[in-house]
Amino acid sequence: MEHRDRIEFNRKIGNRISEQYEGLHGEIFNPIEQERLGRALDKAVSAIRTEANRLTALDLGCGSGNLTAQLIKRGIHTVSADVSEGFLTLVRRAFGHTGLSEVLRINGRDLSNLESNRFDMVATYSVLHHVPDYLHMVEEMCRVIKPSGVIYIDHEVNEAYYSRPEQYVRFLREARPALNLKRYLRLLLDVKGYIHLLRRIANPRYKREGDIHVWPDDHIEWDSIERLLTSRGFQIVFKEDYLLYKSSYDLQVYEKYRDNCADERVLAARKEK
Ligand SMILES: C[S@@+](CC[C@H](N)C(=O)[O-])C[C@H]1O[C@@H](n2cnc3c(N)ncnc32)[C@H](O)[C@@H]1O
Repeated sequence: MEHRDRIEFNRKIGNRISEQYEGLHGEIFNPIEQERLGRALDKAVSAIRTEANRLTALDLGCGSGNLTAQLIKRGIHTVSADVSEGFLTLVRRAFGHTGLSEVLRINGRDLSNLESNRFDMVATYSVLHHVPDYLHMVEEMCRVIKPSGVIYIDHEVNEAYYSRPEQYVRFLREARPALNLKRYLRLLLDVKGYIHLLRRIANPRYKREGDIHVWPDDHIEWDSIERLLTSRGFQIVFKEDYLLYKSSYDLQVYEKYRDNCADERVLAARKEK
């Protein structure tokens, strides 16, 4: 598929699923992940060097407003940007009354409708793997951020997710629920599951929500992102790997493994020049 077609596909998917999005993503909208995200954002916000008393942020690929909610809670004026009008409608409905929220439709290739050096923070969560030329989008993030501002990239898998070290495999085996009769019947009666299977047979890289770079031979390269950021005069403020909590996991098993293995990364980098 051409880049243009992939973006259009993602726009349409976003419009179709926007109202159910939060219910479909228990791995994002659960208290453990929300708390981790809040802590990481606090660290990133405190790394911004500015005298201004009102901060401005861009939430790139805002979806239903996961990051937007966290940013607005911190009193940050937030422009929530997405390719899908459906998501922008949700964000307008949820945060329009705060006086801290703006929404913006973007083209999915670049940030050409935003001026350079505009934001104190540019944040993106679980988005870059949907963007055909994601390194170009990171270049654009570098452009629209003010000097001394911070770029925040979260919720992209790390190398361990693909290389599957022993400990991580053990964790997955223990944490996921066993296939009991109830789950078996649910799978058997899942019509959408069959449709998905047929789509995967027709196109082995079909993904319901238009994920693109999520395959062992085509995935987000954190090293390339880091190299790009440093070549543009950014300093890495922090980079942390973490084990994402999914609501389907056994909590006790998760607690046992959370400090021993990790499958996702968050990175914050400040524009020094
Ligand atoms: C998995 S969702 C993440 C949403 C949100 N950031 C969150 O934390 O829940 C991916 C988001 O990326 C958006 N998206 C898809 N393709 C995009 C593109 N090419 N450029 C920017 N955003 C895109 C989708 O519309 C969707 O809102």
